[in-house]
Formats: sequence, structure tokens, C-alpha cells
Amino acid sequence: MQRSILLLGAFGMLSLFCLVAGCVKQSPNGEAAPGKPAAKGDTNWDVWLQDRPMNTAMRRMWVDCGNIVESTNTQDRLALANASSDLARRAEQFASHFRTLQDANQRTNGAAAEGDWASAGKHLAAAQQGCDNCHFEFWPLAAHGIDSEVLEAWQKTRDAKRAEQVFEAPAKVRLSMGAMRDTMTTAGRAVEERDMERLRDASDRIGKFSGKNLKYWESIAREASAIAAIARTGQLLGVGSRYTTIRSVCTECHETTTEGRGLNPLPWTQD
Ligand code: HEC
Ligand code: HEC
Repeated sequence: MQRSILLLGAFGMLSLFCLVAGCVKQSPNGEAAPGKPAAKGDTNWDVWLQDRPMNTAMRRMWVDCGNIVESTNTQDRLALANASSDLARRAEQFASHFRTLQDANQRTNGAAAEGDWASAGKHLAAAQQGCDNCHFEFWPLAAHGIDSEVLEAWQKTRDAKRAEQVFEAPAKVRLSMGAMRDTMTTAGRAVEERDMERLRDASDRIGKFSGKNLKYWESIAREASAIAAIARTGQLLGVGSRYTTIRSVCTECHETTTEGRGLNPLPWTQD
């Protein structure tokens, strides 16, 4: 009680001080905090261009893992429920794109097998949307061909010429993505030409790509949700084995795709 009054007092003092002195958020080097464009012309586009949503998502999951280990240690059920729910939600976000892709791919193949090529074409477009949705969510601006000149032109409502697209993901990710682009092109042509054999071959490859990734992300989402359920009701003893499964999925994907850029979450050390 006494503590909360003290806190309230301190907060009141702070806001009064801000009223008088003007509390503008400052970054360490004294510039206005990022994400809040200044009034005119001097927006710090570099900050926008440095944003890598995929890496941000990975870092947040890494922190969730740290919080899961720590809060189990301190038996803080609320913190454990929060961290594991957040991890489940983030993993599900990745999974959802691959699920869209996988479902639509199966429907494409199914419709074509029944001779309904018009529907096959629609389902293939939905599959492509699964790819595109993920790109809009996770690509940095540079991958969309947006640089500071484009941003500047848009701010001044002028037309802008797109820059060349720049990709900086690890080579193995880029290779597998490039192979998928070619496979989608092949699938599109097979639908146009009503070539069932070629479509089936392309569908197989798309299915392998989506299936493998879906398995990773669904497994993380499932185990993290289970930890959240344990945090709300059960014995915290069950957390360790589920966390270890999550960690092994992160580690496996990092070993096979990131060329050392991945950062594995901390190991489980409690019994
Ligand atoms: C499907 C594959 C895959 C899975 C599963 C995966 N990652 Fe990653 N992770 C990557 C890739 C690819 C990169 C490198 C991204 C880049 O540099 O463009 C990466 C990078 C990272 C990074 C470094 C980010 C940075 O800013 O440099 C962290 C941290 C990370 N992952 C944490 C995790 C955690 C924690 C998990 C499990 C909960 C996980 N990842 C699961 C593929 C994966
Ligand atoms: C998990 C989300 C996700 C899904 C789903 C996804 N991609 Fe990607 N894709 C990425 C990321 C991340 C990159 C790398 C961006 C970067 O380099 O900064 C990428 C890059 C690419 C590239 C550029 C490769 C290069 O380096 O030139 C192509 C082409 C591509 N994806 C095609 C596809 C196709 C086709 C599909 C669907 C069959 C697909 N992607 C599904 C996330 C995804």
C-alpha cells in the first residue's frame, strides 16, 4: 500500500517535470527516438531500412525461451504462461503461411486430378498468396526494392522508381526459395497446359517444402501451448521435456539453413 503511494507520487512528480521541462524521448546519441518521424523532410529512413522483421521475430522467440527457463526456475507461473503463449503465437504465425500454401497446393492437385483445371488455377493462385503473405510480413524493405529515395519520394508525394531488390538471407534459404519460385512457375505452366504429370511433380516439391517447414513451426507452437497450459494448471515439472523439444527444433533448423547466423536458445539445466 505504502509502496504504491510512493510510486504514484514519483510518477506524478515525473509528469509534472515533463510538463515543465518537456520530456522528449531521446536515443543515446541524442537524436529523436526512431519510429517517430520528425515533422518534415528529415525522417531517418536508415532506421526504417535496417528493420529486418524476420530477425526481430527470431530474437523475440529467443527471449521467450530465456523467460521460459527463468520463470520455471523462479516458479513464476504468470511469467511462464506469458512467455510460452507469446512463443506459441509467433511460431503459429510462421506456420500459418505454410499451412495456406500446403492446403492450397493439395487443392490444386485434387482439382486438376478431377479435370477441373479452372479451379486448379484458382487454388494455385491461393498457394502463391501463401508465399506472398509471408514475404509481406517478413521481408525487409530492401527485398521489396524500396530504398531511401523511394521513401523520400513517397513522403513528398512524387512517383518513385523502385530500386533493385536486395536479399540478404543466408544462401541456403535463398537457394531453397529460388527453387520454389521456379517450381511455382512450372506449376503455373502445367495448369495452363493441363499437364497432370508435370503438375503432380511440382506439387510434390511444393508439398515437401511446406510440409517440412510446417512441421518445425507446428511443433514449436504445440509444445509452447502445452507449456502455457501447464503454467496455468499443472506441475511445472513437465516443462523441461517440452522446452527441450522446442530447443531441438530451433537448433535443427539453424544447423541446416542459417550458416551460423542462427542463435540457439539457452539449454535446459534444471531437473
Ligand atoms: C525454419 C527454420 C528456423 C527455425 C525453426 C528457427 N529459426 Fe531462428 N533463424 C532461422 C534463420 C534462417 C535465421 C537467419 C536469418 C537471417 O539472418 O536472415 C535465424 C536466425 C535466428 C536468430 C538471430 C537473429 C539475428 O538478429 O541475427 C535468433 C536469435 C534465432 N534465429 C532464434 C530462434 C529460436 C529461439 C528458435 C526456436 C524457438 C528459432 N530461431 C527457430 C531459421 C529458423
Ligand atoms: C516463412 C515465410 C516464407 C514463406 C512461406 C515463403 N518465403 Fe520466400 N522468402 C522468405 C524470406 C525471409 C526470404 C529472404 C528475404 C531476405 O533475403 O531478406 C525469402 C526470399 C524469397 C525469394 C528471393 C530469393 C533470392 O534470394 O533471390 C523468392 C524467389 C522466394 N522467397 C519465393 C518463395 C516462394 C515461391 C514461396 C512459396 C512457394 C515462398 N517464397 C514462401 C520467407 C518466406
